Amino acid sequence: MSFYTFASFTRRDFLAGCTAIATVALTRNAHAQAAAGPFKLEPLHHAAYVTNLNNAVKDHSAVASMPLQDILAKLGEMPEAIRTAVRNNGGGHANHTMFWQIMGPASGQPQGDVVAAITRNLGGLQKLQDDFNAAGLRVFGSGWVFITVARDGKLALETKPNQDTPLMDGKRVLLGNDVWEHAYYLTYQNRRADYLKAWWNVVNWAKVGERYAAAKAGTLTI
Ligand SMILES: [Fe+2]
Repeated sequence: MSFYTFASFTRRDFLAGCTAIATVALTRNAHAQAAAGPFKLEPLHHAAYVTNLNNAVKDHSAVASMPLQDILAKLGEMPEAIRTAVRNNGGGHANHTMFWQIMGPASGQPQGDVVAAITRNLGGLQKLQDDFNAAGLRVFGSGWVFITVARDGKLALETKPNQDTPLMDGKRVLLGNDVWEHAYYLTYQNRRADYLKAWWNVVNWAKVGERYAAAKAGTLTI
């Protein structure tokens, strides 16, 4: 995706970019699907992952018929010939689908049941953000920082390299941030701290609350 590839990165640019992305996300129904096959691109810019995933499973109908979260939870059972492609591209597809979902116009603070869980499990919103940002800074190279949510509502912080996801451990993701990939990092690696901090301004807490409720109901997928 390209929205971070600003010639000159500033916080204002970042937020403007994310707001534009989020606005597009809200009009997802207007977007054409990009790739033929069982996995569909939610609106934005991770088409390569979807195309490559569909290519990987096209001769594996049993895999192609599985929900993505089940595929990722059973990577070890995937045919060896496609396992790495499924890991990287299925993970990338799942991670970015979640990522686009949870960003949007600023929606204030966490709301609903998730607030109590943040306090109980992660020490409150400020500590959550501080720990999350610190974890993101410790990721070497490409990767993600996540907050996972268990079926009983318990939250936990973890990181994964590359396009790996807690879905690969059978967990569910409440929210997550992509700490790499974007071209500007190659030039402005020291800006990751700024990025991580600014990102919280575009988290759509209403959507996070919906994901939390879905996780507790057992209906959260990717
Ligand atoms: Fe990304």
